[in-house]
Amino acid sequence: MKIPNDKTAIKILKQYHNPVHIIRHCVKVAKVAVFIGNMLRETGCNISIPLLQAGGLLHDVAKYKSVLYGGDHAIIGAKIITDIGYEDVARIVESHVHLDPTLLSAGQICEELVVNYADKRVKHTSVVSLEERFEDLFKRYGHNEKSIKRIDELYRQGLHMEKIIFDRLDIKPIKLNIIFRRNCND
Ligand SMILES: [Fe+2]
Repeated sequence: MKIPNDKTAIKILKQYHNPVHIIRHCVKVAKVAVFIGNMLRETGCNISIPLLQAGGLLHDVAKYKSVLYGGDHAIIGAKIITDIGYEDVARIVESHVHLDPTLLSAGQICEELVVNYADKRVKHTSVVSLEERFEDLFKRYGHNEKSIKRIDELYRQGLHMEKIIFDRLDIKPIKLNIIFRRNCND
């Protein structure tokens, strides 16, 4: 399995002209995904930390491109990452928006699910609750009935992922806000 290291991942983000606020968001999502991943590993879950790290860093690789030219940033991003040879990371990039519903119904932990969930807990660079993150998404993108329906669908998906993850852990989801508040400036 080919996985880019941090230096390469950041270089790729810059190569696609992502501004610093997007890069900072990606760094925070990677941190949250790895934090959750390490806790899950302690419960015996076989999840790849390097894949969570690279997937978190690169999940929004096409964000800026899609702001400029339109299109689905998850699909465009997955193509970019596939084309440079990181297929396993590309799966995570695509799944951070388009999570295979069978993964949810199976209730199994995988890297796609953890990065998708971590992204739903990071508003810009702050770790927040799903409620707060989606409130922001509704405000920013809930312009019509179709988009409101889609965001609502993603919110329900987020709650489902939260249950799958935290049913295995000893901490409550809200604890993440407290843990990451200590280093909110990084
Ligand atoms: Fe994101």
